[in-house]
Amino acid sequence: MDFHTAKTLLEWQVELGATEAIADAPIDRSALDRVKPTKPEPAPAAAPSAPPVLPSPVEAAEIAVADAKRLTSGSKTLEELHAALAAFEHCELKLGARNLVFADGQPGARVMLLGEAPGRDEDIQGLPFVGRAGQLLDRMLGAIGLARSNPDPGRAVYITNVLPWRPPQNRDPRPDEISMMLPFVERHIALAAPEILILMGNISCQAMLGRKGITRLRGAWTEAVGLPVMPMFHPAYLLRNPAMKRAAWEDLLAVQARLETDG
Ligand code: URA
Repeated sequence: MDFHTAKTLLEWQVELGATEAIADAPIDRSALDRVKPTKPEPAPAAAPSAPPVLPSPVEAAEIAVADAKRLTSGSKTLEELHAALAAFEHCELKLGARNLVFADGQPGARVMLLGEAPGRDEDIQGLPFVGRAGQLLDRMLGAIGLARSNPDPGRAVYITNVLPWRPPQNRDPRPDEISMMLPFVERHIALAAPEILILMGNISCQAMLGRKGITRLRGAWTEAVGLPVMPMFHPAYLLRNPAMKRAAWEDLLAVQARLETDG
């Protein structure tokens, strides 16, 4: 393993919460030098076997999507979908995540929000949008009278992400990861049954609209999975670019106006 790979792996472990570099049992390294290597027994001649045929990356992606569709079509409730997601073994992000982040808020809320993927805080708590971006999101929603904890479907929101597992070092989700998780997202939306879908940032636009370019997409109603959709700047982007909050405010007002006219 070269230096940069080892350093990246170590940094990721630190991000995952590792605080000490120790093993379960002590190792007497001075004794290791004294241990004479024993000559291995020659292995009995094995019968030649055919090399394992691994699927190509394209085939593996197709298998993953087909399995996701099989699992989601059998999910008739959000609880079943949660269990199906937990049983899905094709996404390697699962291996590095502490928690599966499914959703928060009220299923059946008129407004559903779709984010990108859990970050560090979400991975630790197992809930979407609980870090700094999530706190800003809660304030933004509160400004138009919506809250994830409100039991009234007209004043509640339901929140999930395109990916349920945190990507290492918060890297962007890859297209193959988005494709294999899309059947889960579509089923999630169908089971939560919102009236309006808000797409936060480029990744959710890429997943649901097949398009990126949030600066051009934001603020204009469009449609996906039979629902009116409002693309908005991601709250993490707004934290880095506070001048864009004004545009986000306009988009929230458009959502509020639509809730009033349709309501
Ligand atoms: N950003 C997201 O897109 N989703 C989260 O859950 C947290 C941060």
